[in-house]
Amino acid sequence: MSDQKRGMHGIWAGRWTFILAATGSAVGLGNLWKFPYITGENGGGAFVLVYLACILLAGIPVMLGEALLGRKKRMSPIHTMESMTDETGAPKFFRGIGWMGALSGFFILSFYSVIAGWALVYVGKIASGAFVGINAEGSGAAFGAMLADPVGLTIWHTVFMFLTGAVIARGVNKGLEASLRILMPVLFVLMLILFGYSLTTPGFMQGFHFLFDFDASKLTTESIVVALGHSFFTLSLGMGAIMAYGAYMPAKQSLGKTIMWVGVLDTAVALVAGMIIFAIVFSNGLEPSAGPGLMFVSLPIAFGGMPGGIFFGTVFFILVSIAAWSSAISIAEPAVAWAVEKGFTRLTASLAICGFAWFLGLGTVLSFNEWAEYKLFGKTFFDTLDFLTSNIMLPLGGLLIAVFVGWFMSSDMIKNEMKMKNDTLFNVWRFVVRFISPVAIALIFINGLGLF
Ligand code: TRP
Repeated sequence: MSDQKRGMHGIWAGRWTFILAATGSAVGLGNLWKFPYITGENGGGAFVLVYLACILLAGIPVMLGEALLGRKKRMSPIHTMESMTDETGAPKFFRGIGWMGALSGFFILSFYSVIAGWALVYVGKIASGAFVGINAEGSGAAFGAMLADPVGLTIWHTVFMFLTGAVIARGVNKGLEASLRILMPVLFVLMLILFGYSLTTPGFMQGFHFLFDFDASKLTTESIVVALGHSFFTLSLGMGAIMAYGAYMPAKQSLGKTIMWVGVLDTAVALVAGMIIFAIVFSNGLEPSAGPGLMFVSLPIAFGGMPGGIFFGTVFFILVSIAAWSSAISIAEPAVAWAVEKGFTRLTASLAICGFAWFLGLGTVLSFNEWAEYKLFGKTFFDTLDFLTSNIMLPLGGLLIAVFVGWFMSSDMIKNEMKMKNDTLFNVWRFVVRFISPVAIALIFINGLGLF
């Protein structure tokens, strides 16, 4: 139907831009905030190993599939999947990939913005010197006080959502590329400084063993489900974000190499963040399973105790906010691109989509205070949205994408788009995406059904 919409959103300016944009999407709160705390909650090493296996066997292959689909059609995920389903004669329900993705995007954006708001709060707190010389108890109390204040949380949630909407309304290529080119390298340098600091703490080795010692007895069905869900969340997969960004990718660029880079960078940031945070956790007698507050409680202790901590701490939380910003933009882009193809202006589309997500986000704000006691299946509003998106909707989207690319697109069709020169690599990827990824996702899924 809609092939005349191809290419209407523009193309990334250069070879590096897709890598920057996709890395900007992938590296975010998932790596810095979520990975350490769910690793803590799920017992460490064994969880990390399953997560790494999921990245390799499901995440990266599916990511390649998403980028491939997007670049082939150069439209929003909803229209890309409609057009691809018609072209390949695949069953109509594969069109659902685009729709379900837009819905998961809403849900994720709503809570993502609230958590990113915490990072904004911490920029101010650290800059004001409130954490100088603080101990674990004081840091925990400061975090608790922030959560107890729904008005404060709502203000920063609003600020963050506004910033996100502002970039989306201007179009992804413009502001984004220029800023990411500077910010991503600065983020990496700061993480290295923090990593250097963590090496000097007494708990570093304990944290290292916690992250990397494999203890099979700690593996539960739930932790495997969470590891799979997180491998999708952290790589921005299963909802069309990478498909939308792939649609703006220059035609000549090699997809395989690019995607490998994004996967490696994203994983490296998560593992380094984990090493830093657990070094501080064990050096200060914090509880690894403390939950969503883990990063916010542990890092201020480090900044409060190191020379130049106010400066490094402030810059660090600014970078966390920016990493979250470049991710949030990609979460909204599929729905916005679709609305633009439907004839709305980018401004209207961004306002509507960010507005709805903002409203839904109020539920997450309240789930940390006024509504903390209201639980559905033992989960708060925030936990429920998080579980539903990461552990159900994203893996389901990933499963459908793997099956679609693996079984409904011919080898020639893919090769034409992919421009992969190495046949062996191509065959390995095709085998994984046809057999390994779908079977692994389906098995984990079926096993996990009892959890909800
Ligand atoms: N990957 C991002 C992070 O780790 C979050 C994110 C961006 C995302 N786009 C997404 C998650 C699409 C799921 C789907 O913080």
